[in-house]
Amino acid sequence: MTGAAHEVKTPIFAANWKMNSGPTESRAFLRTFLARNARRPDRTVMFFPPALSLAAVRDSLRERPDILVGVQNIHWEAKGAFTGENSAPIAKDAGATHVLVGHSERRHVFGETDEQTGKKVAAAVAAGLTPMLCVGEKLEERERGETEAVVVRQLRAGLAALSNAQIASVLIAYEPVWAIGTGRTATPADASVVHVATRRELTSIAGEHGAKVPILYGGSVNAQNVRALLDAPGVDGVLVGGASLDAEGWATIVRS
Ligand code: 13P
Repeated sequence: MTGAAHEVKTPIFAANWKMNSGPTESRAFLRTFLARNARRPDRTVMFFPPALSLAAVRDSLRERPDILVGVQNIHWEAKGAFTGENSAPIAKDAGATHVLVGHSERRHVFGETDEQTGKKVAAAVAAGLTPMLCVGEKLEERERGETEAVVVRQLRAGLAALSNAQIASVLIAYEPVWAIGTGRTATPADASVVHVATRRELTSIAGEHGAKVPILYGGSVNAQNVRALLDAPGVDGVLVGGASLDAEGWATIVRS
């Protein structure tokens, strides 16, 4: 397996558009966004558009190779009779460098299991895509005091097939399920506790390689709370849904 080396500068500002923005809207968004965001060497910007908008996004960013583009999901098989799915090699060939794996909506709306996230992470790395493995607890799990146990379980399963050196090339996003799309953000202190626990687990799995992995926070991040979250110890970036859909608003967040 090849490791997808990423030379990302932190903080990372990643936009997950979910099932929003077709090719036409994506082009219009990027015209506005690029007019407001010059290249900055001290941060990384990343877009995860719907797969059908990937080509339009890539095309709009041809003058800005510093901005990275990924897909929101892949199948773990490289090819075959899996109607409706996209594989890691197909995403790579279409110009993606990154892929979200195990996003909360994949896990809890589409029933994706820990084992499947592990296979997807392995498939991404094998194809030379950088996976961003998403982890996070549901509200009832938090209330039962299981946050850390859930995150550790998801990390172990998601990274199970990788060597330590390969783990150095992945990204992690901590997204508490109760904070996604709800307007209810984890406080910087709450986020920090889980980020520190995540770092501890990554280091225990992969030693020094685990120390290099950027850990992003996601869940109702917006222009008002982004600075405080990025200042929280252990937070290396943000993965943003709703607030990444408005070009001016997203430009403000990326400038923060
Ligand atoms: P919101 O920013 O809309 O809460 O979504 C977070 C998310 O799921 C990003 O992947």
